[in-house]
Amino acid sequence: MPGIIVVGAQWGDEGKGKVIDILTTQAQHVVRAQGGNNAGHTVIIGEEEYKLHLIPSGILHSHTQCYIAAGTVVDPEVLIQEMQGLSARGIILKGRLWISPAAHVIFPYHRILDHLIEESKGDRAIGTTGRGIGPCYADKAQRLGIRVGEFIDKEVFTRVLKSVLQVKNYELTHMYGAPPMDESEILEKYLKYAEILAPFVCDVEDSVNEALEKGAAVLFEGAQGTFLDITTGTYPFVTSANTVAGGLCVGAGVGPTRIDHTLGVIKAYTTRVGNGPLPTEVTEGDIFLDHHRAREYGTTTGRKRRIGWFDAVLARRAVRLNGMDSLAITKLDILDGLDQVKICTGYQIHGKRIETLPSLAEEFEKVLPIYETHPGWNEDTTEVTSWDELPENARKYLERIEVLCKTPISMVSVGPERDRTLILQQIFQPRNQRVSC
Ligand code: GDP
Ligand code: IMO
Ligand code: MG
Repeated sequence: MPGIIVVGAQWGDEGKGKVIDILTTQAQHVVRAQGGNNAGHTVIIGEEEYKLHLIPSGILHSHTQCYIAAGTVVDPEVLIQEMQGLSARGIILKGRLWISPAAHVIFPYHRILDHLIEESKGDRAIGTTGRGIGPCYADKAQRLGIRVGEFIDKEVFTRVLKSVLQVKNYELTHMYGAPPMDESEILEKYLKYAEILAPFVCDVEDSVNEALEKGAAVLFEGAQGTFLDITTGTYPFVTSANTVAGGLCVGAGVGPTRIDHTLGVIKAYTTRVGNGPLPTEVTEGDIFLDHHRAREYGTTTGRKRRIGWFDAVLARRAVRLNGMDSLAITKLDILDGLDQVKICTGYQIHGKRIETLPSLAEEFEKVLPIYETHPGWNEDTTEVTSWDELPENARKYLERIEVLCKTPISMVSVGPERDRTLILQQIFQPRNQRVSC
């Protein structure tokens, strides 16, 4: 049985949580490998709605082992709240949830710095989630981070915090004119958190590799999306981790040869929260959906998501950056009832047509989308259970996306619930039987 990566193909919120939930019926292990509680993954099971932030969405299936691997950043306060929330809803975590000692810990000074840095950037602000993600990853790169392994060792934590806080307090007071943080206050709170989390810490990277070696099915749950990747995304309007498939391999401590299928989750249109380019963005009068009905409010921050038409230039690029084997198209139902639907197939800039992404954010902001317009479908797709039942124009729309992306669609989602999903190709299959376009 294989290792499967599920990764967002746009700017996050593509519906990864729902897709993970469906695939988890066939998986024994689910791994979060990058990002932190900036993520918000929604899963609906019957009447129950869950919003997962750091705990893998697969936890909702009682047969799974779930991991928060080395590449993540962990806010103990928020993680404990999330754990308590799930426990209160009957989800058992003991013996099922594991945290890597190499994951980095988010402290209050990271959250404060996140806000201060954003404020100081003025109109270059990213529009972060304010969860301290960037400052925590920055400390990791600066070799100033405190990892879970150190955090749960009282003596080491006490010693390391003292020296780290000297640097952080210098930064807070001298660079931002903010008050310094009190070491004993942090220690008092965080030693308690460490005690709660310690029993959940294990060598995650070893466990995940062992599971793969034994032939178990392992799902790698991507967070954020391809164009929020710090290296290949729309820099600087990105998050601080590698969100693409390769980043998940690094973050989980798994070699790329262990991955059998990379599934890209992509909406039938485009959204983005936060600032930065969104070439196909539509403004007020042209918005083709109802934000409430379409659930287009940020799962973590509640911000209204920006909306655009499907961008095949981006999608094609995402396929390459991740080595996607197939696509899961979500939210097709949201386009029901439109007279026409548009697909961006190229950009115009300085009077020329291009079919690639400009590397400068300033240039990217200026591109004009070149659209193909397709007839819409005036039918409800939410009750559809097979490809053949889809309205003809919806099928044509999806087939066009497959051609433009040079990648087959393996799943189509027509509603937030589990059963509103068309499975076109099985993802879990033995090695060397990959889906081909
Ligand atoms: P994630 O971060 O990629 O897991 O996505 P989010 O959970 O942040 O946002 C996706 C939203 O769309 C959630 O509210 C889902 O319940 C919802 N959703 C997912 N798939 C579909 C779909 O096919 N149709 C509709 N109408 N909603 C969907
Ligand atoms: P999921 O996993 C959508 C965005 C923020 C901001 C940028 C940087 O639910 O798809 P950060 O707090 O990470 O420093 O913010 O990244 N962002 C997301 N947008 N979905 C997410 O996660 C996101 N996580 C971060 O809005 O633009
Ligand atoms: Mg989300």
